[in-house]
Amino acid sequence: MADKGTALVTGASGGIGAELAERFARDGWDVILVARSREGLQRVGEALSAKYGVRHHVIPADLTDPAAPQTLFDSVAGLGLTVDALVNNAGFGLAGTFVDVGEGEPTALARELEMLQVNVVALTHLSKLFLPGMVERKRGFVMNVASTAAFQPGPLMAVYYASKAYVLSFSEALSVELDGTGVTVTALCPGATRTEFQVAAGMENSRLFRGGQVMTAGEVADAGYAAMRAGKPVVITGAANRVMAFSTRLIPRRMAARVAKMAQQNA
Ligand SMILES: NC(=O)c1ccc[n+]([C@@H]2O[C@H](COP(=O)([O-])OP(=O)(O)OC[C@H]3O[C@@H](n4cnc5c(N)ncnc54)[C@H](OP(=O)(O)O)[C@@H]3O)[C@@H](O)[C@H]2O)c1
Repeated sequence: MADKGTALVTGASGGIGAELAERFARDGWDVILVARSREGLQRVGEALSAKYGVRHHVIPADLTDPAAPQTLFDSVAGLGLTVDALVNNAGFGLAGTFVDVGEGEPTALARELEMLQVNVVALTHLSKLFLPGMVERKRGFVMNVASTAAFQPGPLMAVYYASKAYVLSFSEALSVELDGTGVTVTALCPGATRTEFQVAAGMENSRLFRGGQVMTAGEVADAGYAAMRAGKPVVITGAANRVMAFSTRLIPRRMAARVAKMAQQNA
């Protein structure tokens, strides 16, 4: 496909999403930036337009709202824009014991359902809305941000790990379905990455972030963007994370879950 177009990036106000938006803009793509914080999006968008001369559009949306994907799709159409790359990056994690259901707990039902709405349902809904047009035009990229959490069950973050297993499975299935259409789907699987994620998820003191190798959002975006451009179905960022993801295939799944539990515990 032509090497420029318009990319819609969710979760573009910071972290991995802002870095991914930068990679598109650097290559001359216009960007549609989506997240809750209008100011955060404007800051990112203005910097990209100033530096690379591309057009940016800011569409604030709260993806915990089940109506948000359709509203977003309609806003994009209303602006007369065509999306050539859809990056489903917005997402968050919640750490805690699943049975702690008290209202203030991170694992309270309402919070976990919101997480599933953003990580799983909105990602699926946006893919459903934007993919048919891409297939019709015989060109397009979809990048879904999964995680190394997708490769094994994750006690103490059970719902988050399961949500990312969905993202990986869904993306790999679509990638095969779309073979030969001119549209590719890439699942980006970062390991621990220094962003606001670990603060929001309450896991700054976990062994994963304290003891393990932590990448920068820029390194993750470089790997993800290159894999997407190459049409690769899956990319795991960082050599240590690739070894870890592969090793989960060699040990019993229950043992992999126990190892993940240790990584989730405080250092
Ligand atoms: N950091 C890691 O260690 C790590 C590892 C593996 C995978 N990931 C995945 O990478 C993706 C990006 O995370 P990150 O590390 O860059 O985290 P981050 O710095 O917290 O950024 C998350 C982005 O998502 C947006 N967002 C959050 N809730 C939203 C909502 N309800 N509606 C719309 N946008 C929302 C945030 O913007 P607003 O607050 O302005 O809405 C922000 O732009 C996520 O899918 C995450 O699961 C992260």
